[in-house]
Amino acid sequence: MSHGLSVGELEELERLAVEVASEAGQLIVEQRPAGLGVEKTKSSATDVVTVMDQRAQDLIRARLRAARPDDGFLGEEEGGAAATSEVTWVVDPIDGTVNYLYGIPAYAVSVAAVVGDPTTPGQWQPVVGAVVDPVGGVLFRARLGGGAWSSAGDRAAVRLAVTEQSELSQALVGTGFGYEASVRRWQALVLLRVLGEIRDIRRFGSAALDLCHVATGTLDAYFERGLNPWDLAAAWLVVTEAGGQVTGLGGGAPGSAMVVAAAPSLLPSLHTVLSDAVSAADADTGPGQP
Ligand code: IPD
Repeated sequence: MSHGLSVGELEELERLAVEVASEAGQLIVEQRPAGLGVEKTKSSATDVVTVMDQRAQDLIRARLRAARPDDGFLGEEEGGAAATSEVTWVVDPIDGTVNYLYGIPAYAVSVAAVVGDPTTPGQWQPVVGAVVDPVGGVLFRARLGGGAWSSAGDRAAVRLAVTEQSELSQALVGTGFGYEASVRRWQALVLLRVLGEIRDIRRFGSAALDLCHVATGTLDAYFERGLNPWDLAAAWLVVTEAGGQVTGLGGGAPGSAMVVAAAPSLLPSLHTVLSDAVSAADADTGPGQP
């Protein structure tokens, strides 16, 4: 997807993404209430949104609006804005909210600058991404054409590269599950078929971190149905700038129907197994499957 942003502008967007994601990361860790309250529910009782989620998004949004008032905004929490520039910020203030609620240290702040319409699969693309793991103290960042990098504390940044795994039977694969019971049943049916074809499965509970694990080579691949643009936007670019590919099922654009991320050497065999598994799960669940 073409864009009119110069390298200098992309660098500026990257600096801003890193700054606001880091600030929000600090906020959610330092001010995480001891007896963390559940503010409201979304699609089901297990989909927990905390007060901190909204506060972190408000902070990010205010910083972005002050720095770039013409940009659009799409966040997981309430309040979006259309762009008059070509940039839209796509933000998940806490990816891994259930982990956050339970105090499991695998959640992240995800901030991406994208071009195109992030609500329509195939019509948008991230140009900058920052994912902050505030408990681990790790930052993952990427800029289109600038590589993917991780850094922790004062240590020098490390350039990321996906694994060279090409044997699906040896691949460690991440996935996640949605909040709706019907979606989870379908996902379990898919997983049943995939499990026999791979080394093993991991479910950490934060799609943004799962994707960054693919970029670092900690996971060989990742797939999930039901992701929203904000779960995906920043880490998608981290994976592709690390040499990986992020697609939908069968190679189209990633979207809520399916996100598959892996090294190019692994993707074809993973697609084949996943396509078969999806067809079987669709047949099992019948019409109205998620
Ligand atoms: C969720 C997490 C989880 C994934 C779900 C997402 P949230 O995001 O990324 O790992 O399996 O599909 O919705 O709700 O914690 O921002």
